[in-house]
Amino acid sequence: MGQVELIQPHGGKLVDRTGAKPDAKAPAVSITLTERQQCDWEMIAIGAMSPLEGFMGEADYHSACDNMTLTDGTIWPMPITCAVDDATADKVSVGDRVACNDDAGRLLGYITVDEKYKQDKKKQAAKAFGTEDEAHPGVKVLYDEGDTCLAGKIDVVTTRHAPMFSDHRFNPCQLREEFKSRGWHTVVAFQTRNPIHRAHEYLTKCAQEITDGLLIHPLMGATKDGDIPPEVRMQCYEVLIENYYHPDHTMLSVMPAAMRYAGPREAILHCILRQNYGCSHFIVGRDHAGVGDYYGTYDAQKIFETLPEGALKITTLNFEHSAWSKKAGGMVSGKTFPKIEGDQIFLSGTKVREMLRNGERPPVEFTRPEVAEILIESMKES
Ligand code: ADX
Repeated sequence: MGQVELIQPHGGKLVDRTGAKPDAKAPAVSITLTERQQCDWEMIAIGAMSPLEGFMGEADYHSACDNMTLTDGTIWPMPITCAVDDATADKVSVGDRVACNDDAGRLLGYITVDEKYKQDKKKQAAKAFGTEDEAHPGVKVLYDEGDTCLAGKIDVVTTRHAPMFSDHRFNPCQLREEFKSRGWHTVVAFQTRNPIHRAHEYLTKCAQEITDGLLIHPLMGATKDGDIPPEVRMQCYEVLIENYYHPDHTMLSVMPAAMRYAGPREAILHCILRQNYGCSHFIVGRDHAGVGDYYGTYDAQKIFETLPEGALKITTLNFEHSAWSKKAGGMVSGKTFPKIEGDQIFLSGTKVREMLRNGERPPVEFTRPEVAEILIESMKES
């Protein structure tokens, strides 16, 4: 086995903002990070958002909205900000060090504020989310937060107090070491915010055929109401991997990012994050990171065609809508088997939830029975 050379981080260098000690004298102002900001905090701290070293300044904010780049031309599809309400913003001056706490009041670290600016929520909504509709769950989070952004590098004392799934919470540096020790030169990452059903499994296994390893990399940060809770999903992933994946070519690690439901632009963000984690390939299926009917089925694939050649080092693997075909007796996509009326097993999310709530297992062609059992149990408890 030769020396394993993994993909370069986005922007060339893996950022590490961890390892700060608490200041001897507490700063005058402390803020409580929102759930989403806490997720971004951790992602920046561990280098998953490289080259970002902190929350964005105004020029990068507008550049990300308008051009999908930072001001230096590095691809970045949306603002990453620390917005606060005006009363808090009034207490902060440029040059201040501000303590950042979690919602239980525990210190996470500091921002050294080098800019304070008003964000343009409508513009960000229209550009990054493609809609100004406040019914969109990502736009709603944006509209509900403060109007003023504090920008600057972060110094992180703690990425998160009492993190969930610490056995499966590899940061980019640790994941890269893990890939090297397994001799994986090429690694395909699979993003998901759901339990893995048969269609998801199909994509991952197709991708596994052409790479050394598969990283099942569920997003475990903030999600919207109605999404399946992280603890339940984790059980689903574990039982599925144990029963249906090859241990030598499969790895599970959680990604502590928040879900924005921004469809195409978030697909680019998801891709950048995985490049930082050391993955060479990234799966983009139908309506990636979408919600409701805000985005076209393949918009999240098409947006990559608009990026300059070589802007990202990671390669996307696009998949068409996949489902079980009764005629073919297996999983198919629009690319591998012609569409025949009534042939494919299709169940809407609403239908699946209804079945599970009634203690009914969806067909094995839709989801593995072990996964269905866990979901049925979790519905009984909730
Ligand atoms: S997402 O918000 O993380 O994108 P989800 O967990 O449902 O949602 O999807 C994970 C990945 O699988 C995404 O790349 C998505 O496009 C893809 N995907 C989900 N269902 C299908 C399907 N039936 N056919 C093809 N791709 C799919």
